[in-house]
Order: sequence, then structure tokens, then C-alpha cells
Amino acid sequence: MAVARVALEHEHRARREDRREVGAVERVATFDPGHWYEEHTDDVERIVVRGGRPLSGAVPIAGAKNSALKLMASALLAEGDHVLENVPRIVDVEIMSDLLVSMGVDVRRTDEHELTIRVPADVQPEAPYELVERMRASIVVLGPLLGRFGEAHIALPGGDDFGPRPIDMHVRGLEALGASFETSHGYVHARCDQLLGTRVLLEFPSVGATENVLMAAVRAKGTTVIENAAREPEIADLAAFLNRMGGQVVGAGSSTIVIEGVDELVPVRHRVIPDRVETATLLAAVGVAKGEVTLEGARPEHLDMLVQKLGDMGMRISPCSEGLWAAAPTRLRAVDVATLPYPGIATDYKPLFVALLSVAEGVGIVTENLFAGRFRYVDELVRMGADVRTEGHHAVVRGVERLSGAPVRAPDIRAGAALVVAGLGAEGETVVADAHHVARGYEDFGGKLRALGADVEWWHE
Ligand code: EPU
Repeated sequence: MAVARVALEHEHRARREDRREVGAVERVATFDPGHWYEEHTDDVERIVVRGGRPLSGAVPIAGAKNSALKLMASALLAEGDHVLENVPRIVDVEIMSDLLVSMGVDVRRTDEHELTIRVPADVQPEAPYELVERMRASIVVLGPLLGRFGEAHIALPGGDDFGPRPIDMHVRGLEALGASFETSHGYVHARCDQLLGTRVLLEFPSVGATENVLMAAVRAKGTTVIENAAREPEIADLAAFLNRMGGQVVGAGSSTIVIEGVDELVPVRHRVIPDRVETATLLAAVGVAKGEVTLEGARPEHLDMLVQKLGDMGMRISPCSEGLWAAAPTRLRAVDVATLPYPGIATDYKPLFVALLSVAEGVGIVTENLFAGRFRYVDELVRMGADVRTEGHHAVVRGVERLSGAPVRAPDIRAGAALVVAGLGAEGETVVADAHHVARGYEDFGGKLRALGADVEWWHE
């Protein structure tokens, strides 16, 4: 391990120097020959939306960001060539690729939506600050690194727009399996000899903590039972991938997951599930802009609660042979919405609801139960004429007839997308600055909206 680590550190330094040559662009991996990634990490990207056009037509739904990232991390559990299909072309996937490459893994896009991940016998078990800072989801390499190599050094993510986002539940769960942790110089250092299966009771159904414990426990000795596990479809997808690799995981998608540890896992081919948040975003787009769309490949069974809520607001949504059909013929009615862990209304849908309620008839109260401080985009919507008041983790939204286009700033992925959605129903031009946030999570967002008839442009200056 030590020799491999020195060699990789040397290579890492060399890459750092390469990066300096390309100037402002932060890029570690030689992952994609195109300029796409560089374009989408540019701070002066803007999305320009001219509102007032109803949507119509069909667009495909991309693979789920929050599944693809975890599947890429869990590839670390087995030496050899893994193939992931339906991987979205988004910046967060590039960052996860950079992270794997920095560890000594070879990641290539072998087709537009296919990644081949070649994992060597040994890796440098470290997630450096420069990458963790750019994507907090980097923390999901912790479980697989501990499970396979017994060692992980992960830069501590700082606070961000959603508040502090600690990792105490990840740490407590992995400690229960026998890992020990210490922090120094902004890094958390984790070590273990042999992980031992045990009962892990999560204080809250955290998605990341469930995933890290699951990915470590597949290589533990004996049986692990995760109770109060997160139930998101992306966790069921991760378990399906691990089982295909030779793992023995039962119950993923429910709140009790039972994992029988195995000695070895093998590389496999797997298709990422469709992105339910992209689906929700396009549903909200039709809710605001009006019209009728088909979202190809969308999985209605992952969207039950959302479909019910949008139905209460007056949208018509139905499963169809292509995926999901949706129509919004008239102005929607206000409803109250509270975010909850899956199968509740996802926190990621919340800015979309605030955008929808901004132009709905009546008053809706939106309550955030997962993340502190996830209302920063509200000020931007108010600049567009929305009537929204926030207090603590509640927002009271009084619908207005029409928003008016204005220059606004995207504070994060989902809020950025919601501002674009709001712009679709606004009078005149909305210019969403810091659009690179949106590119982190949405593949060709502008292109898809244009294909549905919206007037949207993506500017790089
Ligand atoms: N939390 C703790 N301690 C922990 C872990 C979580 O206090 O050890 C708290 C968090 O601070 C937060 C809550 O528990 O208040 C929920 O966090 P969770 O761990 O469930 O979320 P996550 O794994 O960090 C994932 C998604 C988010 C999504 C949330 C909730 C990924 C990469 N991220 O985050 O998606 O909002 O689950 O569903 O899967 C996005 O895609 O834009 C995004 C932010």
C-alpha cells in the first residue's frame, strides 16, 4: 500500500501541474477529451429563459445522478472492469470520475451514457479537499474504501447552502462495524482490520449514512442489519448493483436492510435507474408553463407522493407505455407541502413546489424537515414578483397571476433548476446566473426544455 501510495502521490502532483497549465479550469482527470466539462465549470454561465410558451412533446429522462455517483464509488469494492450504463452527462459525474482517477482508478466514457471503470488491485484511499469541496457526495467513497482496503482518508466537507451537513451518522454506523476514526488537518482518517457485522440503528434515515454502512457491510464478516435505513430508490439500485457483484443484501428500499458479508465481489455491468428529480423538475416545468408532455423512461412508482400532490394541484399525470404523461391545462391550485424522507416529498422537490405555488391560485405552506437553511433561492423568486415569506423552516407562498422575468442567481442545483422553471411562466426574460450549479445535476437541461418548445438558451461568456 505504501509503495502504491507514494507512486500515486507523485502522479497526483504531476496532474496538479498539468492543471496549472490549463489555467482557471480545475481538472484532475484526463477523463473526457471534449471541452464540455470545462464549459460547465465556468462561473459566468447563464441560462436565459423567455417565458410564456406552453410545453409540448416528449423528452428522455437521464440516469439518476444520486444513483450513478454511489454506483461509481461502490465499484471500488471489486478489482477489474465495471460497466455502468445510463450514466448522465453531468458535472458531478465528472467530479466523481476525477476522484476515482485521483485514487488510481481508470474511468472512461465508452459510450455517450456508458462508463467503464477499471479498478486496480490497490488504490490510494484518499479523497482530497479540492474534490470533496466541489462535491460533498465524495463522502460515499468512505464505506467502500473501508470495506475493501481497511483504510480511508477523506477531507471533511465544509458547510454549504444547505447548512452544516454533518457526517456523524456515517461515522457512528461504521464504528459499530469496527472502524476507528480520528480527525486531523481537516481530514477524517478511518481504519479497520476486519469489519464485523452487527446491528446499526440509524438515528435518522440518512441516505449517505445508509449507503456508506451498506457498502462497508458487504465486505464485513457476518450479518449486518441496518435499521431505520433510508428507503430511496437509489439505495435499492445500489443494493441491486452490489448483489450483482456477488453481495448478499436483502430489504433495500425498506427501512430494514440485512447484509450478509462476503469475501469477494466481482466487477459487473449495470444500468442506472432513471432520475426522479429530473422527472419532477420537468413535471414542475409543465405545471408552470402549462401544456402536455411525455417523459420517456420515467418510473412512476418512484414518484407516487409527488404525482399525488401535483394531482391535488390540478395537474393530470398518468403512467404510459413510454414512461409518464403529464398535462397542466389551467392555473394550478395551492396546496401545503412538507418534505420528508422517501417515500415522502423529497427535499429536492421543494424549490420546485415554491416555484409552482408562486403562480398557483391561493396560499400554500411549504415546510422543510430535512435541511436547515434551504430557502436561499426564495429571495430570487421574490425579485421575480413572487409573494413568499419564510420563517424558520416554513415558507408561506401566496400565488400571483404572473411572475415577471428578472436577473437572478442559482444558489445550488435544485434551486437553480427551479428558477429556470419559474422563468418559463414569467413575463419577459429571466437570466439565471451561476448556471454551472444546474449543470452539476441536469444533463442538457436547456436542450430538453427547448425540445418541449420553451425559449431557453445557455450562455457561456
Ligand atoms: N445528517 C446528519 N448526520 C449525518 C448524515 C446526515 O445530521 O451523518 C443530516 C443532514 O445534515 C440532513 C439530513 O440528515 O439534514 C439528511 O441527510 P442525508 O444524509 O439523508 O442526505 P445526503 O445523503 O447528504 C442525499 C442526496 C441529496 C438529497 C438528500 C435527501 C446525494 C448525493 N445527495 O444527500 O441530494 O437532498 O439525500 O434526500 O445522494 C441533490 O441531488 O441536489 C441533493 C442535495
